[in-house]
Amino acid sequence: MSSPRGEFSSTFGFVMAAAGSAIGLGNIWGFPTQTAQNGGAAFVLFYLILTFVVGYPVLLAEFTIGRHAKSNPVGTYQKIDGGKNFVPAGFLGLFTVGFILSFYSIVAGWLTAFFVHPLLKMIGADSAAQWVVSQNTTSTVLFGSIFFILTILIVVGGIKNGIEKWSSRFMPTLLIMMLVLVGYVVTLPGAMEGVRVYLLPDFDKTMNPQLILSALGQAFFSLSLGVGGMLVYGSYTKKSENLVRLGTLVTLCDIGVAFIAGMLIIPAMYAASAAGTEIFDANGNLISEGNLIFQVLPALFDSMGTAGIVVSFLFFFLMVIAALTSSISMLEVPVAYAVDNRNMSRKKAAMLIGGFFWIVSIIIALNMSTLFSGVITLTTKYSQPILGLIICIFVGWVMNRNKLLEELKQGNPEIGNSLFMKIWPFFLKVVSPILILIVFLQSFISW
Ligand code: PFF
Repeated sequence: MSSPRGEFSSTFGFVMAAAGSAIGLGNIWGFPTQTAQNGGAAFVLFYLILTFVVGYPVLLAEFTIGRHAKSNPVGTYQKIDGGKNFVPAGFLGLFTVGFILSFYSIVAGWLTAFFVHPLLKMIGADSAAQWVVSQNTTSTVLFGSIFFILTILIVVGGIKNGIEKWSSRFMPTLLIMMLVLVGYVVTLPGAMEGVRVYLLPDFDKTMNPQLILSALGQAFFSLSLGVGGMLVYGSYTKKSENLVRLGTLVTLCDIGVAFIAGMLIIPAMYAASAAGTEIFDANGNLISEGNLIFQVLPALFDSMGTAGIVVSFLFFFLMVIAALTSSISMLEVPVAYAVDNRNMSRKKAAMLIGGFFWIVSIIIALNMSTLFSGVITLTTKYSQPILGLIICIFVGWVMNRNKLLEELKQGNPEIGNSLFMKIWPFFLKVVSPILILIVFLQSFISW
């Protein structure tokens, strides 16, 4: 019998949904932009290390406690022995993820506009086509709102019919499309310089403490950690699933897509620069950071002639889907809380909570210069890693070790004697928290 809370129907569906949550703007917008800002390969290196050493252990912790308690972050801390003092962290997760959704929908709205752009061009509505991608306040609010409403509608649809269906259909197509584009980009004049910057670290830059803080934030953001997105998806997973295997697959998919996105955007940036698009200022710094992909990608598609119109339409369509499979996992967190703890219907919860954060997103869009980057920094660089640290402390130090093992044994009976069980608890207890603390301390000292 399937659970009344809703459940993923297949392993593939779960992996696609969790990978769908992980893969999104963080990979295709955040990762290449941060890489370009922070010295190329040096940033990539730290991001990879922190993902394996800190992100992966926290991801498995979230999956495990979520499935154990079959609840949202607040309910999970309430249900597991010793978790009472951690309940405020659960609430902080609900709010953080709501604020993440509020800025995320703005960027996703820009992508939606870029998806509509070639359609308008095809029907000859050139000035409308120009207007939608101009990122003025009205179009930002309009397309951000369209994206937000889509998110709410899918979450109203529930787990199997909403989230799982969407993720399974489109995530594989996006991957294939990106690989084909990488194949094209690296043939363009100037692109090889981008490949070099992307793959060869400049070790002078690795010593910059802000770089490491950004890499940590990126690792947490990209794996949807800390705020309970993965915890909630874990709670919808069958007991027969092997969580360690699923977590490994999701992490590899996430890193893989980020890596491919970097391989697409960074060389495309250098190719666009060689072709005359202004990407860098006189000192070699990026001109408009948050906007990078919106300058580079259209320039790339233009270089393809007429075929570029079709490619651009398809690419931005898939990007909007990738963003949707992430945004639904964000809204799902507070909605799961309202459904589990407040007995609200899924529909009412999605509309009320979605409506609230939609208004927040409009307020951010109307005050872009003052609010946008501040909200991103607070939620992703600070709140997510701090919440991750709290999860490490709870699972590593407070939660009963046998209960943890019992949960992991379901779907993976041999895990008791495995190497994983020797290493993972130690990482959660010691290595990951210390690393998070060091990254924070050194970033404060450097201020
Ligand atoms: N991981 C998503 C991305 O890389 O775009 C962003 C995200 C999703 C963050 C879900 C937090 C979350 F709960």
